[in-house]
Amino acid sequence: MTTNWYKEAVFYELYIRAYKDSSGDGRGDFRGAIEKLDHIKSLGVDCVWVMPHYPSPLLDDGYDISDYLGIHPDFGALDDFKAFLNAAHERGLRVITDLVLNHTSDRHPWFQAARRDKNSPHRDYYVWSDTGTEYADARIIFLDTEPSNWTYDETAGQYFWHRFYRSQPDLNYDNPQVHEEMFRIMRFWLDMGIDGFRADAVPYLYQREGTNCENLPETHQFLQKVRRIMDEEYPDRVLIAEANQWPEDLLPYFGTPEAPDFHVCFHFPIMPRLFMALKKGDKTPIVDILNRTPAIPPGTQWMTFLRNHDELTLEMVTPEEREWMWRQYAPDPRMRLNLGIRRRLAPLLDNDKRKWFLLNALFLSLPGAPILYYGDEIGMSDNIWLPDRHGCRTPMQWDAGQHAGFSDALDTYLPVNRDYEQVNVAAQEADPDSYLNLTRFLIRARQSQPALRAGLLEWVKSGSRELLAFRRHTNGKDGVLCLFNLSDRPQTFTLKRERVDLLARPQMAMGGTITLPPYACHWFRN
Ligand code: GLC
Repeated sequence: MTTNWYKEAVFYELYIRAYKDSSGDGRGDFRGAIEKLDHIKSLGVDCVWVMPHYPSPLLDDGYDISDYLGIHPDFGALDDFKAFLNAAHERGLRVITDLVLNHTSDRHPWFQAARRDKNSPHRDYYVWSDTGTEYADARIIFLDTEPSNWTYDETAGQYFWHRFYRSQPDLNYDNPQVHEEMFRIMRFWLDMGIDGFRADAVPYLYQREGTNCENLPETHQFLQKVRRIMDEEYPDRVLIAEANQWPEDLLPYFGTPEAPDFHVCFHFPIMPRLFMALKKGDKTPIVDILNRTPAIPPGTQWMTFLRNHDELTLEMVTPEEREWMWRQYAPDPRMRLNLGIRRRLAPLLDNDKRKWFLLNALFLSLPGAPILYYGDEIGMSDNIWLPDRHGCRTPMQWDAGQHAGFSDALDTYLPVNRDYEQVNVAAQEADPDSYLNLTRFLIRARQSQPALRAGLLEWVKSGSRELLAFRRHTNGKDGVLCLFNLSDRPQTFTLKRERVDLLARPQMAMGGTITLPPYACHWFRN
């Protein structure tokens, strides 16, 4: 039986290394994460996305996999993973993992065999060239580090193709053997009982001369095969696409009812526009991008997010908007990385709880399944002095004790943020106005309303650019009117009749002309 559970679920992105160290080596592990599942459950979350947990040299924090069928020794063993999965399921939490299709680590035995021997059956698992001049129209994604998508390998005597770090050679999807390997890997984890995958970097699987090597028809044909396996052998699991693309290019990732691709796609373009609208005090960027977002097939869903483990990507904005966003949100060059901003949610919002509440209430009331990034539920800060994206991947802050209660070790894999004595779960438990309790409150309020979980969105005239207003409803009747004052000036709005505000604590009825203070928001129930 399929339930489409993912359409109305709330997700949580979990970085095992950062969450809780049970072994005392300064690195989080599955046994530690088990201890903290009750925390995740207490937020009102339905499904946990576990970032890569496979053996890896960690040159891209696990997105460089050297063995797809194992567990990184830092995280424990396969039995620990199984125990984590069971413990989550016992609590009614589903678990999805990362499926990295596009590339392996260069330490993967396939690549090691491939580079050493031209006649190895693994040579053709990767993409090679004698000149490194092909596919010149493909952009470079990690452009702060990589000068080219081709790197010369001395041992192989040829160039190999890579869309990310040079330590991550791309797999060759023109080789059907590679498909079979990936299907085997998928089945291995699905047979163990995971609830689906977040598929990493899916637009880049194929290369074709004269194209930008993204979103190619061949890529969709392969992804449809992946989906067919899920539908035929593992119903009720979910397949989520990380495709950082414009709305019209995202639509094919849902496929068609006859040939579906993904159940869920991250909505990348809306994300930076939420920050943009808030900083400008102008709803236009949000309205424009949602109007540009096509309707999606039945049984599919968007995934909405504010932050994740990567930089806040500015790929889906114009060059002028990108410059503006950098000036506004990343004044220090250390805050910038590639085409994005490597900061966490609370510091991006000046640690202003009004803005934090507004942005959370906003993304939790948009159509889509929301996902939270670990630590943002307590307003954790970042550390811009750490390289790459590490500054947003520091240890979770549990209490005011040593290493914020994360670990008993002398040293941790990354330093704990300096603010942990104030910003931690234990300190926030007792305070009803803490980030933590506001997160729980918002998720509960959203999940209590079918219209917010599953309704359509309809714009409501507000009379000003500063005031964003829309209605979510499932059948035209039961609805929630959502109002957000994006500006630092009071705004007024006239309610035609008395309505209960779900965001007031305690809930309270309001009517007539109301004034919204700076950054105030309301969810009015019918
Ligand atoms: C995805 C991941 C990112 C990783 C990249 C390469 O974009 O989110 O963290 O570096 O893929 O695997």
